[in-house]
Amino acid sequence: MSTGAEKDTLLFFVNGKKVTEKHADPETTLLSFLRQKLRLTGTKYGCGGGGCGACTVMVSRYRPTNKTIYHYSANACLLPLCQLHGAAITTVDGIGCTKNRIHPVQERIAKAHGSQCGFCTPGMVMSMYTLLRNNPQPTLDDITQALAGNLCRCTGYRPIIDGCRTFCKQEVNCCQVNGGTNCGITKEQIDETPLLFDKSEFMPLDQTQDLIFPPELILMMETTKPQMLTFRGERVTWVSPVLLEELVQLKTSNPEAPLIMGNTNIGVNIKFKGVVHPLVISAIRVKELYEVTVTKHGVWMGVGLTLSEMWMVLKKICNQYPVEKTELFKALIKQLGNLGSQQIRNVATLGGNIMSAYPNSDLNPVLAAGNCSVSTLCCDGRREVPLDKEFFVSFGKTVLKPEEIVTSVLIPFSRQREFVRAFRQAPRKESAFATVTTGMRVLFAEGFREVEDVAIYYGGVGPTTARATKTCASIVARPWNDETLSRAYDILMKEFDLLPSIPGGKAEFRRALTVSFLFKFNLEVLQILGEMNLIEDNVVVNIKPLPREIQQSQQQFQHVSECQSDQDLVGRPIMHSSAISQATGEAIYCDDLPKIDGELFLALVTSSHAHAKIINVDTSDALLLPGVAEIITAKDIPGKKTRVILGYDEEILAESQVSCIGQIVCAVLADTRAHAKRGASAVKISYEDLPEPIFTIEDAIKSSSYYEPRRKIERGNVEEAFKSVDQVHEGIIRIGGQEHFYMETQSMLVVPVGEQTEFKIYISSQWPTSVQMAVAETLAIPANRVSCHVKRLGGAFGGKVVKTSILACITSVAAWKTNRAVRCVLERGEDMLITGGRHPLLGKYKVGFQKNGKILAADIQLWTNAGNAVDESIFVVEKILLHLDNAYNIPNLRGRAAACRTNLPSNTSFRGFGVPQVACVVENLINDVGLVLQCPADQVRENNMYKGPSLTHYKVEFSPENLLRCWEDCKVKSDFSVRRVAVDMFNQQNRWKKRGLAIIPIKYGIAFAEGVMNQAAALVNIYGDGSVLVTHAGTEMGQGVHTKIQQVASRELHIPLSKVYISETSTSAIPNGFPSAASFGTDANGMAVKNACQTLYQRLEPIRKKNPKGTWENWVSAAIMEKISLSATGYHRGADSHMDWDKMEGRPYPYYTYGVCCCEVELDCLTGDYRTVTTNIVADIGQSLNPSMDIGQIEGAFMQGLGLFTLEELKFSPSGLLYTRGPSQYKIPAVCDMPLSFNVFLLSDSYNPHAIYSSKGIGEPILFLGSSVFFAIKDAIAAARKDVGLTGPFSLDSPATAERICLACASPFTQNGENKTGCSQPWAIDI
Ligand SMILES: Cc1cc2nc3c(=O)[nH]c(=O)nc-3n(C[C@H](O)[C@H](O)[C@H](O)COP(=O)(O)OP(=O)(O)OC[C@H]3O[C@@H](n4cnc5c(N)ncnc54)[C@H](O)[C@@H]3O)c2cc1C
Ligand code: FES
Ligand code: FES
Repeated sequence: MSTGAEKDTLLFFVNGKKVTEKHADPETTLLSFLRQKLRLTGTKYGCGGGGCGACTVMVSRYRPTNKTIYHYSANACLLPLCQLHGAAITTVDGIGCTKNRIHPVQERIAKAHGSQCGFCTPGMVMSMYTLLRNNPQPTLDDITQALAGNLCRCTGYRPIIDGCRTFCKQEVNCCQVNGGTNCGITKEQIDETPLLFDKSEFMPLDQTQDLIFPPELILMMETTKPQMLTFRGERVTWVSPVLLEELVQLKTSNPEAPLIMGNTNIGVNIKFKGVVHPLVISAIRVKELYEVTVTKHGVWMGVGLTLSEMWMVLKKICNQYPVEKTELFKALIKQLGNLGSQQIRNVATLGGNIMSAYPNSDLNPVLAAGNCSVSTLCCDGRREVPLDKEFFVSFGKTVLKPEEIVTSVLIPFSRQREFVRAFRQAPRKESAFATVTTGMRVLFAEGFREVEDVAIYYGGVGPTTARATKTCASIVARPWNDETLSRAYDILMKEFDLLPSIPGGKAEFRRALTVSFLFKFNLEVLQILGEMNLIEDNVVVNIKPLPREIQQSQQQFQHVSECQSDQDLVGRPIMHSSAISQATGEAIYCDDLPKIDGELFLALVTSSHAHAKIINVDTSDALLLPGVAEIITAKDIPGKKTRVILGYDEEILAESQVSCIGQIVCAVLADTRAHAKRGASAVKISYEDLPEPIFTIEDAIKSSSYYEPRRKIERGNVEEAFKSVDQVHEGIIRIGGQEHFYMETQSMLVVPVGEQTEFKIYISSQWPTSVQMAVAETLAIPANRVSCHVKRLGGAFGGKVVKTSILACITSVAAWKTNRAVRCVLERGEDMLITGGRHPLLGKYKVGFQKNGKILAADIQLWTNAGNAVDESIFVVEKILLHLDNAYNIPNLRGRAAACRTNLPSNTSFRGFGVPQVACVVENLINDVGLVLQCPADQVRENNMYKGPSLTHYKVEFSPENLLRCWEDCKVKSDFSVRRVAVDMFNQQNRWKKRGLAIIPIKYGIAFAEGVMNQAAALVNIYGDGSVLVTHAGTEMGQGVHTKIQQVASRELHIPLSKVYISETSTSAIPNGFPSAASFGTDANGMAVKNACQTLYQRLEPIRKKNPKGTWENWVSAAIMEKISLSATGYHRGADSHMDWDKMEGRPYPYYTYGVCCCEVELDCLTGDYRTVTTNIVADIGQSLNPSMDIGQIEGAFMQGLGLFTLEELKFSPSGLLYTRGPSQYKIPAVCDMPLSFNVFLLSDSYNPHAIYSSKGIGEPILFLGSSVFFAIKDAIAAARKDVGLTGPFSLDSPATAERICLACASPFTQNGENKTGCSQPWAIDI
């Protein structure tokens, strides 16, 4: 059959404007069309795979059948452009802008401080906007559902939720306000507390301001008979039939052509697996695929329904039919509620989910257990095929013939005495594919005496949805009782032969889950039978799901003093200065810069071998591809081919040898991104493997593979102390690495100026000076020819300090060679593969203590996995040892730390710089002491904490007074002793659910331990109209440094904040800057700006004296007339920190920031799932410069720590390949991970002489406090273990994932399986 017209014109609307595209390329996504063709850059690229929500837009469609307009959120990165014929798209740029009117959603997220780096903000705005469009007064649950698929790496979500919840009808959810008594705060206290934002100033939601659905589209849909559409691109043809017969014919003649529906499976395969389909058939316009027919057996549901539509249909049917008929419907509703995100469910279809035949599809096990069948159609006619175990034949394959089309699914009504349930466990509660997912159905015979039929299907236990056939056989025709079920558990344990090599790993956990789910099913069935009085002596077991209701949070900070002028904004919760433009999408990030004439895109080619000689790089095929302009190898580098860091060379491009998978070998330049990427995949590199690559810390220790120097620190006499203590205990803990997952991937644009080898570099870097120097060295030109500009970064967290410079060098060589502008923006997967992250750490310790819990000696050995280049690993090791004491005075303390050299991508700086890892080892040691002594861990902590005038292990005197104040305050705020009793009581009453409580301190040294880095410079220019331009060396990456600096300048110059502007960070304005890192950005740059402003203010003094009543503008004009310079530099010479590692003493930090956090968690011992119920943080940050910024940093860091210690898992293959290269595999905290009650209190009356206006650095310290969730989980696990007679220390590595929690709980279902470890190579290795 012909594929229709030669080429059709695509017609749709974007933000109310008509778009007609004559050359619609089927490979183009809406996201790239918006950003590159329409130049609407508000919508962001975060992952390209539907996993982060940064690209969220609203799609509106008109259905002539019911004359209704539908609005839904969708991920523009997965929406094929050609799918949009007749649709209206609304993007963040279309709902409001600063030039005229911003939308209330944009306003509220911004003013509630929900935008830090701002890169996630447009996506958040659009998810919320779409929700309001459909439901102007949503519930809090609606909001969390709508935002479940939007990731934010900065804020900790609390402020976003707080901004959005102002749209709720009944907004407050505080126990006091609602008449309860739990939190101890009275309504009066709430009224007196200063607030972070004032919601009375918010604009009301006025939907008359919203863009209307284009009448032209309605007219088109109503009057034009739809025709088959064809779009042809460079490699792919797209056909979109209207009639079912056309569809059948097309599929018959092109059986290999996929049907595109939501594109959430095909799109992902195209993008990440490089699959090319020369022809694709879009079936979304075939109306028969949307029909819903109710029969007496059940409901035939059209497979074209999206999962959201399916959910609504199922809900409707549940409301219409008696409960006993809708068992299967309810189970499906439950699964649908947890499947993907709303953006995914809004486009993904029922047919697509079935036919994708994912092994961990959430629907297929339930449909199969529920006796569903599909109706299919092909040229041979229609047939009905049962959706049973024969239906799924292998990974991604079904029994259907390639030309067969599924048209509908029969979802049967349940019968009397029939019960259906669904369960799933995923690495994250929401927006994550399940590890194991299941559908279970039981039908009882008359009188409930025995089981007539049972069906149990699992996903996640093999390549297909699988039936537990033997287990079912063991249950059928038997009574539903302990004996039957116990036998069933035993059989089930053996039924799925899960080897350690199973894709995705977690074999033991998966097996445990299969049984846990059957056990849960049993509990639910027993509960029903009990309610029907069919069984006696039914022990009531708590099978309630984990709590999920978000409470009203508290943020407590000090009012500024009453005598402070209103104009002086220091100490007040001022909104981030770019928050509004971030929320409107107007804020410019590096990749938003318009394309420059002749610009080329650079794509990297990386090594696929971990340790090998490069034999040949064959670029011939790549150079023949359309658009490919040039290939850059090491030979092209005109200057230095290596970067020397801490005495070790790191090659910019590998020349003869590679030392990890992901090392950059060469780069392809082409006219477009797509061409550059195709070119990169066409480069062929041949290798000769070198022996014995090293991946794990243990292997590195065995081979003595280290970066030198290794470091040691010791005080007291450790060996002697061990001899004198009551008890000695030894332990070990592994803390996994962490991906920065800044939402904006590494991005840069290098522009040759055209003369004298001058280059302008626009880059997302935390350290522009390092980029400048590196590029100058690589191009062999003086640094004065390179100017580096940073407007803002979409998050960084330490990941854009060192690695970015190397990427900039490669991009600059490309620009130098071609004399054209070159842009390089990493894909999420590339970024994760190449740029490394936090150092994984192995800690071994020996601790000696007295019966009263007093620790007298500790010997701690620490190894980090540094990877294939030294990067900052030695500095990380040093900082680790400098925080070996955390908050404790251990008189005899020894630490040894080494950076292991391995064949993995090199790790780099990451918020906390090794401190979270080492402090976790120390706290684990303390926890163990508590477990050995059967004494609460908080008492051991308290017993050993620094008290009175103290000396650190590197011999610095300090006062821990504020640490102790935080500790006491936190205990009070969290009602610690009352909660302890309540938690213990809960644990006694619940066998399968446990609660845990932990309180954890941190003492964190601020600034760089390398004294030279503690300096900063600033330039302040006053212009003739009185406006002030401030430039300093700090980079704005969401932490709000520019806003705080504006506050400083405004105070020093005595002018309103609105007169102070910061445009960018530039090496032309400020030379020789140091990175914005070490929580020191505001300390250093604030002082430099203060210095410059004071100079200027003094210069204006004579003028002010002459005209004391004059205005600022008068004085500025007069100064110009009197030839007074209105430009001044400022400089801050910070602390001369130093550390003598030979003497093991020094003064590495000018001061400490303290914090204490108490968390309570509830966990499900059967699945390892947990929820953080309460978090109370007390932080000493001196006199806060800006409480909203500082609280934002505290919450964001805490959540990043929560991710590090409980969620985020990097997985490497046995050959050293990083598997976890996107949000689908690597889970950072989402809204669902936010503590239900999340409170932050800033310690009052704290002063700090070492930093600007008595403030303290806060970017990093609180990250470690995320471990309080880890230790609360450990506390809960200890309670679970007690129930099976296990006491004393036990091992739990970080992150405490559901897998580790479940196995550590030692339930009967984790014990009985055959341990197959050792019989096949594990899927992943512990690095
Ligand atoms: C970020 C993300 C998270 C996700 N999370 C989950 C999750 O938690 N649980 C889960 O179960 N799934 C999850 N998914 C998978 C998602 O549910 C499926 O990709 C989706 O249901 C597929 O539907 P689609 O309409 O997008 O299919 P498409 O990608 O358009 O098509 C998929 C396949 O189905 C075939 N097909 C489609 N319709 C028919 C038909 N009528 N007849 C014959 N063949 C057909 C196509 O040829 C193609 O091979 C997730 C996906 C993403 C991207
Ligand atoms: S960029 Fe689309 S979801 Fe991440
Ligand atoms: S503000 Fe959300 S990712 Fe930065």
